[in-house]
Amino acid sequence: MSEAADRPATTRRTLLCGAAVLAAGGATLGVAGCSSSGGSGAGGSTDAQSTAKATPVTVGAVADVPVGGGKVYRDQKIVVTQPTAGQYKSFSATCTHAGCLVDQVANNVIQCPCHGSRFNITDGSVADGPAPTPLPEYQVTVTNGAFQVTT
Ligand code: FES
Repeated sequence: MSEAADRPATTRRTLLCGAAVLAAGGATLGVAGCSSSGGSGAGGSTDAQSTAKATPVTVGAVADVPVGGGKVYRDQKIVVTQPTAGQYKSFSATCTHAGCLVDQVANNVIQCPCHGSRFNITDGSVADGPAPTPLPEYQVTVTNGAFQVTT
């Protein structure tokens, strides 16, 4: 097989970072975003920008979410559940199998209509596949009787 298939592709970013080092005569430069590890080193401006706070979204009334059940907010692609009285949880409503929206919450599970995956209302974990991973969890608070969800 070809040698090119075994090594990582050279990206535009790699070339630009290399050019910055060459322009400086090989001297060590602190060029932001030129880490070869791709990790989250301290001081990386890209990481700081990607962790900006999201604005909470009001999705609906607390009264709409029964104990042991939940409600799917299709427009926002959010599901809110109440595993025990007064305990609220929120998750992405996008199924981790193939991206359908979950459509029902009953008997302590969130159900996907497409291929039958079911997720636990307590933590979004997979109760029945084929979904490979849990539903991502969101932060939910209650303000004036309504859910505020931060995605
Ligand atoms: S998309 Fe949900 S089970 Fe397949």
